[in-house]
Amino acid sequence: MIILGIETSCDETSAALVRDGRVILSNVIHTQEVHHKFGGVVPEVASRNHVIKIFEVLDAVEKEAGMSLREADAIAVTRGPGLVGALLIGVNTAKGLAYSWQKPLIPVHHVEAHLYANMLHFGEIPFPFLGLIVSGGHTHLVLVESPRSYRLIGQTRDDAVGEAFDKVAKMLGLGYPGGPAVDRIAAQGDEDAMELPIPVLRDNPMDFSFSGLKTAVRNLIARSPGVKKEDVCASFQKTAVRALTQRVELFFTGEKPYPLVVAGGVAANSRLRAEFSSLSARYNVPLFIPPVGLCTDNAAMVAALGNDLFREGAFLEGEKLLSLNATSSLSFV
Ligand code: KG4
Ligand code: ZN
Repeated sequence: MIILGIETSCDETSAALVRDGRVILSNVIHTQEVHHKFGGVVPEVASRNHVIKIFEVLDAVEKEAGMSLREADAIAVTRGPGLVGALLIGVNTAKGLAYSWQKPLIPVHHVEAHLYANMLHFGEIPFPFLGLIVSGGHTHLVLVESPRSYRLIGQTRDDAVGEAFDKVAKMLGLGYPGGPAVDRIAAQGDEDAMELPIPVLRDNPMDFSFSGLKTAVRNLIARSPGVKKEDVCASFQKTAVRALTQRVELFFTGEKPYPLVVAGGVAANSRLRAEFSSLSARYNVPLFIPPVGLCTDNAAMVAALGNDLFREGAFLEGEKLLSLNATSSLSFV
């Protein structure tokens, strides 16, 4: 079965063709660089650029895969969470194509789709596993006991970890998106140059909080204007990644170690990859992290999850598919 995936939740316009939910035939990602000069994603600008790019991206997928999009058996689209104007472009494109080509339409949850980037690279991952999704908008720790059954272990109370990377980069004038810049610059810094806080939330120590860390970095820069950017990036990155590994270790020691599946844009971070790799060796559990290119937003992961949803019967057809709407905030578990 071949699924056409469409993703427009933020600043990537992406479409993909995926066979049986696991084999990428084509995955075209257009990143909107227009936002760089604003230092962050401007929602209205994102929507307009999705409109301009979506058909170009679909044409490129068709070319790359060497097959007509009409040959797809179904269309999967990110319905949320994300920027509502941006989501609407993908949702309406998918609805238009599915209705006119008489294909089933599969609504997909963006954060859950991130986990499925791993299935594209590793094939089937045995259950149960502990999933950590770290992106610009989300920080979720979930126990996945069987396909698509999620137990929420922890989530952020304020900023997402990727958002903290982006805000720290902005303070240092490193541009947007900040994560890759912080990662690159941190490599030249001293990670022990400064001590930064990792808040522990008393009512649920498995929850995350990144706004205190961000404020600590802001205060530090204000107090010592001559501080080296490299040292700030390295110290911040070490602390942000430690906040993630600490929660996972806390869960492992409180319950038991589980195989680890990490996903989302921040999973591209070199320090995160190294720390989780040593954690998995210490606890003797397998670690799954997608290749860097599948960590950030892409439509192949949407098609991968779409495949499994289709098999569960979670799709819309005929007139019913016209009722699908984009939803900016959508809970995951
Ligand atoms: O998953 P994603 O593409 O979009 C959302 O669903 O949010 O994640 C984007 C986030 C941004 O905050 C970006 O700065 C961060 O992922 N990111 C990184 C790295 N590459 C992307 N953060 C740290 N290190 C990286 N190498
Ligand atoms: Zn994402």
